[in-house]
Amino acid sequence: MDNKFLINEAKKAMENSYSPYSNFKVGAALLTDTGEVFTGCNIENASFGGTNCAERTALFKAISEGYKKFTKIAIISDSKNYTAPCGICRQVISEFSLDMEVIMANKNGEYTTKRLRELLPLAFTSEDL
Ligand code: THU
Repeated sequence: MDNKFLINEAKKAMENSYSPYSNFKVGAALLTDTGEVFTGCNIENASFGGTNCAERTALFKAISEGYKKFTKIAIISDSKNYTAPCGICRQVISEFSLDMEVIMANKNGEYTTKRLRELLPLAFTSEDL
């Protein structure tokens, strides 16, 4: 699947962002190994710790629909900077794939990519339990 297509899906999801506290809209689009796309946005809460990032929204939607194998995730926001996943999202994504390609876009749709294992070196995984 084309990276630009995935970024565009993430951008559409970003429009559903519920972010009245930070006013920082984020969208994500996750690609399964069989070609399905799951999207997500950030969902904030008056109790700030209840906030869910766009990446985890997309991932949890996919997991709850029975998908566990993923190849790529695209992330976009309104920022001029590339939108990198936060530490919690890196850890949560790592549960399912350290090889996932992470596509980090800026508001203009320009992007850079890294493998999750590059973003989360020495990851703590189920192997370490
Ligand atoms: N946010 C995401 O959705 N993904 C990230 O990886 C970075 C942070 C959200 C959480 C919060 O709603 C807002 O961006 C500001 O931190």
